[in-house]
Amino acid sequence: MEAATASCLNEGLAATLIWFRSFGFAALIILVAAWLHRFLSPALAFALLVVALLVAVLYQASFVSRLTTWANLPRNRPLPIGWGIWTPLIERLNRVSREQQASVTELGSELERIHAAVDRLPDGLVLLDRYDHVSWSNQAAQSLHGIFGTQRPVHHFIRQPEFAEMLQRRGGEVQIQRLQLNTQPGRIFELQLHETDAEHRLLITRDVTDQAKLDAVRSDFVANVSHEIRTPATVIAGFAETLLSLDLDDKTRREYLSAILRQSETMGRLVGDLLLLASLERATDRLDESAIELQPLLNSLVYEARALSSGRHEISLEFEGPPRLMAVPTEIESAVRNLVTNAVRYTPDGGTVTVSWRVRDDEGWLAVHDTGIGISTENLPRITERFYRVDRSRSRDTGGTGLGLAIVKRIANRHHASLRIDSEPGKGSVFTLRFPARRLIADPPAVSASTEPPAGDASRSNDQHPPPL
Ligand SMILES: Nc1ncnc2c1ncn2[C@@H]1O[C@H](COP(=O)(O)OP(=O)(O)OP(=O)(O)O)[C@@H](O)[C@H]1O
Ligand SMILES: [Mg+2]
Repeated sequence: MEAATASCLNEGLAATLIWFRSFGFAALIILVAAWLHRFLSPALAFALLVVALLVAVLYQASFVSRLTTWANLPRNRPLPIGWGIWTPLIERLNRVSREQQASVTELGSELERIHAAVDRLPDGLVLLDRYDHVSWSNQAAQSLHGIFGTQRPVHHFIRQPEFAEMLQRRGGEVQIQRLQLNTQPGRIFELQLHETDAEHRLLITRDVTDQAKLDAVRSDFVANVSHEIRTPATVIAGFAETLLSLDLDDKTRREYLSAILRQSETMGRLVGDLLLLASLERATDRLDESAIELQPLLNSLVYEARALSSGRHEISLEFEGPPRLMAVPTEIESAVRNLVTNAVRYTPDGGTVTVSWRVRDDEGWLAVHDTGIGISTENLPRITERFYRVDRSRSRDTGGTGLGLAIVKRIANRHHASLRIDSEPGKGSVFTLRFPARRLIADPPAVSASTEPPAGDASRSNDQHPPPL
């Protein structure tokens, strides 16, 4: 406020000074002429006065003309040098011109910074004029859609009819559409058209291929889950309705009730597997792992498998590898149980199932080998997908949800292990979990307190920090 008042005062003072200088100059000429009048004739003194005033007027006129020429030239030309009353004006004009130049330079570098940032965006940006001609585009738009230069219609670069329709529509705030563009085969783009002002529109193009795939996987998953739940639910409803409406004998009633029980168990298993899979996919932090005693674990799983088989298969364990594995116990148990259960389920009566643990190629190989129906080559790559089953009805008959191998694969990934599947239709399959060497622990299990070796003994410290193989 004070600065503004001071500058107003200064400007008023400068204007007054110009008036004073002009009058002063004219008065000086008149005084000089009056003084010369003493020595010269009046006519000569008057003539000198007229000449002096004429020179002064001509000087002012020539300066005004140079100033006009300067004003018509580009802004960065130097101002003409002025004398007398022109000095303060020229100084002021010089200052204004310098300030203007500085702000133009600052704006230019600001604009460059904005352009550089916008060029680094992965999304394509295109500014369109009122005729939908390109006014400006960033690098992403140029490389994605081959846009170059300006003043060309944007539909020359993006030729989809759906996009042409988008351009036709005007008035709304923003239009959004997903499209497959000819310029980028196999990719899906989201095109957004924003009305920026009456003259311009902004087109934003974003590669949403991954997002679209994820959306498709999600909706497939929801459809699959709904389908899997609907099947047992329909069966349960059917049996329950029959039980309610018909007067059945005791044997048939028991049969229907046990069918209902089986279906509800399948639903329970499905929900359990889904929850397990969700928790495995969600857990990204450190694993809650410990050194697992493998032999007792595998023994108990083999016993379980024998119970499931009820003597229809020969089931054995070959234990040759290191005694302990660094892993999450519940997850390893769940993975091996899935593999062993599959082996029993998909092996005809009289076949054999062998669970083995050994070291191969510096890795710990936990394998489940069966002499079952095997898997054909075209089904093998999809076998670990959620809900994928070679023979849907057979899998359902045996109570399968189709999530088992997806869970095994997820558990393997979490342990930096791999799941390898070798199979030949009619001959059998081998499912092998290959654990990296750093997870294998060769030393014997911790000894009890009474038989503990003396402090400082190597085997004791090994027990706290078991060495890898
Ligand atoms: N050892 C095997 N021999 C032959 N086919 C197998 C074997 N293991 C799995 N499969 C095939 O792979 C499919 C997927 O197996 P997965 O374990 O994921 O599902 P499931 O056994 O049907 O159900 P569950 O979720 O109860 O395990 C099975 O439906 C079956 O077709
Ligand atoms: Mg299974």
